[in-house]
Amino acid sequence: MGDKLLEIENLSVNFHTPEGIARAVDGVGFTLATGETVGLVGESGCGKSVTALSILGLIPSPPGQIEAGEIRFDGQNLLDLDNESLRNMRGRYISMIFQEPMTSLNPVLTIGRQVAEPLMIHQGLKRAAAFERAAEWLDRVKIPAAAKRLKDYPHELSGGMRQRVMIAMAMVCGPKLLIADEPTTALDVTIQAQILSLMTDLKEEVAMSVLLITHDLGVVAQMASRVMVMYAGQIVEEAGVVDVFDHPFHPYTRGLLKSAPRTAYPGNRSRRLIEIPGTVPPLTRQLVGCKFTERCRHSFELCRQQQPTLFQISSGHRARCWLMKYPQNRRDDA
Ligand SMILES: Nc1ncnc2c1ncn2[C@@H]1O[C@H](COP(=O)(O)OP(=O)(O)OP(=O)(O)O)[C@@H](O)[C@H]1O
Ligand SMILES: [Mg+2]
Repeated sequence: MGDKLLEIENLSVNFHTPEGIARAVDGVGFTLATGETVGLVGESGCGKSVTALSILGLIPSPPGQIEAGEIRFDGQNLLDLDNESLRNMRGRYISMIFQEPMTSLNPVLTIGRQVAEPLMIHQGLKRAAAFERAAEWLDRVKIPAAAKRLKDYPHELSGGMRQRVMIAMAMVCGPKLLIADEPTTALDVTIQAQILSLMTDLKEEVAMSVLLITHDLGVVAQMASRVMVMYAGQIVEEAGVVDVFDHPFHPYTRGLLKSAPRTAYPGNRSRRLIEIPGTVPPLTRQLVGCKFTERCRHSFELCRQQQPTLFQISSGHRARCWLMKYPQNRRDDA
């Protein structure tokens, strides 16, 4: 893949809550090459959306605060930009599709206006030209009779159609980076498949990088070339998609795969769903050792005493687990 478009280093985001400081993102680092699609997976609350919102400069502050790190986009640290420059980045070079379109579509504006607006703001198109382009985009995302629907309001569309409008809005200025946060979770299975194939088609047309956030390992297997697994604010494993599914290393990744329905991805041959025991520790708790220790059936003394770093397993495959250094401690997997 081409050059690095996005480079995140040691990103740490805290939320100041009545219960204490929650370390929502704790030293996250990764890169995204031009044209690459990378999946970010992990249980609810592990920091996926906070990572995404940090890239867009949309962390609510207070209570949130970016404590440390760098987010370089095309070589420029986004954390150094003022609000106006960030607004200019959003929609033009970096755009996002959110899980629930009703929260990000404006209910009192027509969909035509909402798709046309980024073109008027970022590309200086006149109203008529922007609406014309909006109609083209609604057509490209396969909204039937697109030109006629420009005057519709979001509530007049079905959930799947609203998600298509969101995609059109995100794509209309030809972003270099698309962040899709659970883009299909709210949709039923057939509509989900249509939206994913639409995203795949659009991606083939433009050299766009995609950060795809999802709970759904099947979606990752279908769309991404690389996967990052997050647990309690940290990346615990990253690898090419084949390695993650065929040779998962981290006990958490293995647990996630075992708890996914067997239809979720090719090669899942487990007969029944096996839940990962326990729950994510409160993010306000200071842990010295590995954050997964309490839920890990392989854990040993060192795991409780010292946090593992991301160890290299093979080219492009890394895992944050002491078993990498002490493999004899791995118990047989049931
Ligand atoms: N506005 C907020 N105020 C306080 N804490 C927050 C806020 N937003 C996020 N957090 C904290 O950050 C953690 C990570 O949240 P995030 O939304 O990134 O999870 P996620 O991985 O996207 O989960 P999901 O899969 O449910 O979308 C949460 O567990 C929560 O503790
Ligand atoms: Mg989320």
